[in-house]
Amino acid sequence: RFLRWTWRLTWLTGVGLTGVLAYSIFHLRHPAEQMEPDPSKKTLVILGTGWGSVSLLKKLDTENYNVIVISPRNYFLFTPLLPSCTTGMIEHRSIMEPIRNILRHKKATVKFYEAEATKIDHEKRVVYISDDSEVKGEISHTEVPFDMLVIGVGAENATFGIEGVRENSCFLKEVDDAQKIRKSIMDCVETAMFKDQAPEEVKRLLHTVVVGGGPTGVEFAGELQDFFNADLKKWIPDIKENFHVTLVEALPNVLPMFSKQLIDYTESTFKEESITIRTKTMVKKVTDKHIEAEVTRPDGTKEREIIPYGLLVWATGNAVRPVVRDLMSKIPAQKNSRRGLAVNEYLVVNGTENIWAVGDCAVANYAPTAQVASQEGTFLAHLLNSMAKAETIENELKRLSDVQAQAKSEEDRNAALGEIRECQRQLRRIKQIGPFQYSHQGSLAYIGKERAVADISWWAGNIASGGTLTYLFWRSAYLSMCFSTRNRVLVAFDWTKALLFGRDVSRE
Ligand code: FAD
Ligand code: NAI
Repeated sequence: RFLRWTWRLTWLTGVGLTGVLAYSIFHLRHPAEQMEPDPSKKTLVILGTGWGSVSLLKKLDTENYNVIVISPRNYFLFTPLLPSCTTGMIEHRSIMEPIRNILRHKKATVKFYEAEATKIDHEKRVVYISDDSEVKGEISHTEVPFDMLVIGVGAENATFGIEGVRENSCFLKEVDDAQKIRKSIMDCVETAMFKDQAPEEVKRLLHTVVVGGGPTGVEFAGELQDFFNADLKKWIPDIKENFHVTLVEALPNVLPMFSKQLIDYTESTFKEESITIRTKTMVKKVTDKHIEAEVTRPDGTKEREIIPYGLLVWATGNAVRPVVRDLMSKIPAQKNSRRGLAVNEYLVVNGTENIWAVGDCAVANYAPTAQVASQEGTFLAHLLNSMAKAETIENELKRLSDVQAQAKSEEDRNAALGEIRECQRQLRRIKQIGPFQYSHQGSLAYIGKERAVADISWWAGNIASGGTLTYLFWRSAYLSMCFSTRNRVLVAFDWTKALLFGRDVSRE
């Protein structure tokens, strides 16, 4: 009897889950008809399709505004798994979600222009845009007027003006960067194996230098060493002796945002993996074959050192994008801001009206992370939804006041008064929305060798952990955070594929 019931329950659960999955897929593939834009509504322009802007779009009631999204990228990119794309552990399309899919599921139509915002005129309320894609129509530059603007353009790669960086290194911010690295890794390996290559040259070509010991640099170094250990050295045993990864960091340690014990754990894991960490080493110049670095010795003296490389990956953090820098230069209230647009506690750009900024391009005293950007986007969606609701209620209040003034009987006047009071109550509740408050959930980073480090906020304290269990946590956390079910399935499939068949070592 027990077995019969267990069987029935399992069967019912199976049928239920299949039904839910089938419905989700059907819903994804068959979005409902959308409301057409209403010209009487305000135009809300959103720049960017990254963490900040897409989190905003997810929660925004688009029927309240005429929403226009502008970005040179017609997809959302799940950046936390981008380092895994450099070695083919994950295919880049698995962590991309087309913006058209996201927008098509909104209640009211949202316009999308694949273009870069080149200039923002905050006084005239106009954004100038340019189509920088390869295919161009007769018009590739135009302007978009707005009533309200949200700037979520992220940041560009910091090079600190160091000579040779842009020309000779690979960055790791976008899909193209990850693809370029993946190709270059195999190019270096195959070139090193070219007939009669001199031993010194083989050594140089098989030496990857990663500049920047923040999480991007650490995660990439870990992924690359994994690739070598699990696949490269099996298929190309000749590179075994010379393949090497060096991580160069200007500060005394890597991962400065993590707790001391996790920094030590990362450094000891790298040592086990034979990844060299060069701390207190600041890169000053880059050529096509070597970097020149200033090394601070334990006695405080400084020395210039030349380090040859085959592949150079530059991960030294963020810099302000030109469009943001240009806007900042035009607003006196932004005079003292250096790292991005200074915003108030409601994310309004200081010195402007009806312009907000979210994510890496905004300076709100938080680290430039996806976690901050997505919480800011969600907050702004609630704020904009509330503002639209408040406006509707205020219009209704005006109408009810007229009704009350023109009421012919005491009964009608009292009825209107009742409705006015209800509207006022609703308005008070809506206007109670507090300032943005960031809730830090913790920091997570993959360090290679199937180990991860995590500083997790727990009640009033913090839990620091590192190792294989943390790696399993890292995997499940990022899998659950992927944008869509489709992304989750594809990422899980990529992990399984790499486990069964290894990563693909073909170039291209
Ligand atoms: P982005 O996500 O960078 O999006 C900016 C958008 O603006 C893009 O769509 C871009 O195409 C668009 N854009 C650019 N210029 C213009 C323009 N002129 N006009 C219009 N649109 C424009 N953070 C974490 O919290 N956890 C992690 O594990 C993590 N891992 C990371 C791994 C890597 C490799 C990298 C590079 C970053 C990682 N981050 C992580 C940081 C996180 O990705 C950023 O903080 C986050 O992407 C910032 O979101 P954003 O919306 O401000 O910018
Ligand atoms: P970062 O700003 O965190 O680190 C850059 C590092 O480069 C710094 O430690 C700096 O000292 C070093 N550096 C700068 N110039 C140098 C030079 N000339 N020579 C040698 N070293 C130099 O940058 P990163 O890693 O790109 O991260 C950017 C943002 O994205 C951060 O806020 C980070 O927290 C977030 N991020 C988070 C991840 C995670 O949580 N797992 C993963 C990747 C990024």
